[in-house]
Amino acid sequence: MDFKLRCIACGAEYLPQEIRYNCDCGGLLDVEHDLDSLREQVSRELFDNRLGDLALPYASGVWRYRELILPLDERAIVSRPEGNTNLYRPSTALRRGPWSFGTCPGPFVLGPKDQGRQVQGPGQDSGHCSLGLSNWLGVDDLYLKHEGENPTGSFKDRGMTVGVTQAKLLGCRAVACASTGNTSASLAAYAALAGLSAIVFVPQGQIAFGKLSQALAYGAKTLQVRGDFDTAMRLVRQTCDELGIYLLNSVNPFRLEGQKSIVFEALQQLGWEVPDWIVLPAGNLGNTSAFGKALYELKELGLIGRMPRLAAVQAQGANPFYRSFLGGFQQRESVEARTIATAIRIGDPVSYPRAVRALRWTDGLVAEVTDQEIMDAKARVDAAGIGCEPASAAAVAGAKKLVEASVIGRKEKVLVILTGHLLKDPQATVGYHLEKLAGLTPAYANCPVAIEPTLEAVQEALEGRL
Ligand code: F0G
Repeated sequence: MDFKLRCIACGAEYLPQEIRYNCDCGGLLDVEHDLDSLREQVSRELFDNRLGDLALPYASGVWRYRELILPLDERAIVSRPEGNTNLYRPSTALRRGPWSFGTCPGPFVLGPKDQGRQVQGPGQDSGHCSLGLSNWLGVDDLYLKHEGENPTGSFKDRGMTVGVTQAKLLGCRAVACASTGNTSASLAAYAALAGLSAIVFVPQGQIAFGKLSQALAYGAKTLQVRGDFDTAMRLVRQTCDELGIYLLNSVNPFRLEGQKSIVFEALQQLGWEVPDWIVLPAGNLGNTSAFGKALYELKELGLIGRMPRLAAVQAQGANPFYRSFLGGFQQRESVEARTIATAIRIGDPVSYPRAVRALRWTDGLVAEVTDQEIMDAKARVDAAGIGCEPASAAAVAGAKKLVEASVIGRKEKVLVILTGHLLKDPQATVGYHLEKLAGLTPAYANCPVAIEPTLEAVQEALEGRL
């Protein structure tokens, strides 16, 4: 094989056939490719020629880049296929906002006590509601890559196709993960596809309903741990070690190889033109790590001429990486996490050292955003007709904040990664528009209106706004 496992802390080498997630020294492991021999094999043309191929492996937006992922026999691959997600260029044009950016006519569907409530949107006084998403965010050259368009609705499928393929190659019969929801949904689906048993550990009451329903529906044994994600993470590691189950959290280096393809595919969609910034949400830091490794390898292989800067965005209530960043990464921080963006409600991220390395490679930075900023940004992405889950909107809110702080220039090319689908977390979305989220005042609520079944009632509700 042309790759091995290498410890990022002490450099020790291991065979990829070995089941291990950490070095004997405790360090995290990388899949290390032979870049010298890859330099002879890969080119932009090679990958471009595979575009449009209808058969596996190249129909997959992961395995299209298989030399840079895992150079496996294609018969071994477990794929839906995944990837091939859209890259949106949101309009800068002026547009009409959703109906209720002004006064909400009421009555609401929720009950009598809500009737006649007034909603003050910034659209009323500032006209912001009519701005296109990129104007609102403050950059003209804005791209959104929607990883929520993967088979199970999140970017996790890109890592899972590789992780589950590796599990099969290793002869494992059961796979497990701890999850804030999306990893468990993805693992459950890919395990079902591969005929493996799946066990998922989720923090009880802290994962969005769309995700929980997926894990149950795809047939995973779902353990609701009384504790937070970090507790579930410790428990799954112990369980996998003791019971011989294959661990498929992003501590597993094969997962990250698949997630690198987000960067490969985005660059290919951009005609291999490197953006100035790539902005993404950060929780357990697997994706930040994968992005850094992808960019490092592309640069080493001469497929890109310069590095974009990575901006990892955390929720203010779940910001250990941001805190470490403020201290120049002198110290690894952990927090007790709390945010409406449950996907990134993580206080002690497992991939911390790899993510620090990613930021060093890319002259990157970390930002934090409040739940209010997350949900208002989500409303803007949703109202643009694109839609995403709260954690994804953290990246959008972070990009806006960095533009306002003049860290990102208004003329720079900015790629924001939307990591999960709008339908993952209906409770957060509906709660926002009904103004039912504790501690938040929605700036862009779009309240539903209950009406009598008459044309007059319809006309009254439309307020002559057709
Ligand atoms: N966005 C979404 C929608 C996620 O589900 C996650 C992580 C992230 C961003 C953060 O990515 O962990 O690589 O830094 N979800 C994991 C899960 C933790 O269990 O589904 P990260």
